[in-house]
Amino acid sequence: MSTTPIISFRDAAKVFPGSRKRPEVRAVDGVTLDIEAGEIFGVIGYSGAGKSTLVRLINALEKTTSGSVVVGGQDLTALGESQLREVRAGIGMIFQQFNLLSSRTVAGNVAYPLEVAKWPREKREARVRELLEFVGIADKAGSYPSQLSGGQKQRVGIARALATNPRILLADEATSALDPETTREVLRLLQRVNRELGITVVIITHEMDVVRYACHRVAVMEHGKVVEVGDAYAIFSGPTAPVTRRFVATSLRDRPSAETLARLRERHPGRLVVVGIDEVTGSTHAISQVLRDAGVEPAIIYGGITEVADKPYGSLTFELTGSDDDVAAAIERLREVTGVDDLGTADAPVSAPAETTTDPTAGRSGPPRTRVVGAQDYGMLGGQGGRLAGPDRLVIEEDD
Ligand SMILES: Nc1ncnc2c1ncn2[C@@H]1O[C@H](COP(=O)(O)OP(=O)(O)OP(=O)(O)O)[C@@H](O)[C@H]1O
Ligand SMILES: [Mg+2]
Repeated sequence: MSTTPIISFRDAAKVFPGSRKRPEVRAVDGVTLDIEAGEIFGVIGYSGAGKSTLVRLINALEKTTSGSVVVGGQDLTALGESQLREVRAGIGMIFQQFNLLSSRTVAGNVAYPLEVAKWPREKREARVRELLEFVGIADKAGSYPSQLSGGQKQRVGIARALATNPRILLADEATSALDPETTREVLRLLQRVNRELGITVVIITHEMDVVRYACHRVAVMEHGKVVEVGDAYAIFSGPTAPVTRRFVATSLRDRPSAETLARLRERHPGRLVVVGIDEVTGSTHAISQVLRDAGVEPAIIYGGITEVADKPYGSLTFELTGSDDDVAAAIERLREVTGVDDLGTADAPVSAPAETTTDPTAGRSGPPRTRVVGAQDYGMLGGQGGRLAGPDRLVIEEDD
């Protein structure tokens, strides 16, 4: 991946003026941000954070009130309307509601931007065929949008957005109307668009799972500002802004909440420890080895290992049974391998570090530390101790 920014915001702001009835809105408020050529960049935030306004600044559907937006080396604030049209031609966009023309077939929808760009008929037809092949719906060329599923409609949207060979694809909540499985398929397609066509993809979303699954880097927005930006893996393993911690917690759900912990203690009297899992400890071999060597009896009672940016991440909560000395020694040894939160025993509980995640790198670089994220209660689902809660998510739960 190159490191040339293809999109640069410099103290960019967009203010919608108020009236007597309503106050002005600083929809985008002093954003400075670089999006590199060739990356899949996520912008996440709750409703009203300013995400859509931010992307609309990229294709100049909105003009900045102050600051600048530079796309492909061109400062949009300095361009006239005809030059802006050229910049827009290099940017494709897809939407939550697909925005297909209902009176046109699939092929007709994909051909539309080529007609606008005055491509000759034969070139157009060949291009439409090629695009429909690429997105995997060549067999639907003659169908109308009303005859397609949501996932198929978004494939048409993507084919249409790619028709004129853009360098950038903007996806504004493009998977928000789709079920989780179809979301995966569309995200996989966007990954192919990025990898095979070299197109920079900007994904706007309010779902951290989308970031976890597809994005290389992510910016978190709140009240028009970017409050945190970084590699997806780093953001998940060490979120700092409270809003980021909430997003990460809803996506990972790997730690017991206070209520769940209370229930776990009722049925597991031994020493409970939360152990961080990452790239290095992902196989859990090292952890198993330590526990075996220490002569303690480990039982996994809670946790989840998932993938962030294609690498394992999460935590497991163990009940360790054995003599006090053996258990203490085991915890010391574990800390050399990964991050560990000692929750004590039911009789001598150590309060869980409120809303924390266990940093798997802690033991390898300096003293153990935990990082704050938040935890979510799954409730009590029982089961055999393992359940597939999503295509890539192994969740280990309490044994009823
Ligand atoms: N044309 C407009 N005129 C006035 N206010 C606007 C306009 N467009 C957006 N806003 C306001 O700007 C703020 C940011 O809106 P925006 O649509 O960018 O948020 P968002 O993060 O995309 O939210 P959502 O997740 O709901 O799509 C909101 O308070 C919104 O009401
Ligand atoms: Mg929006």
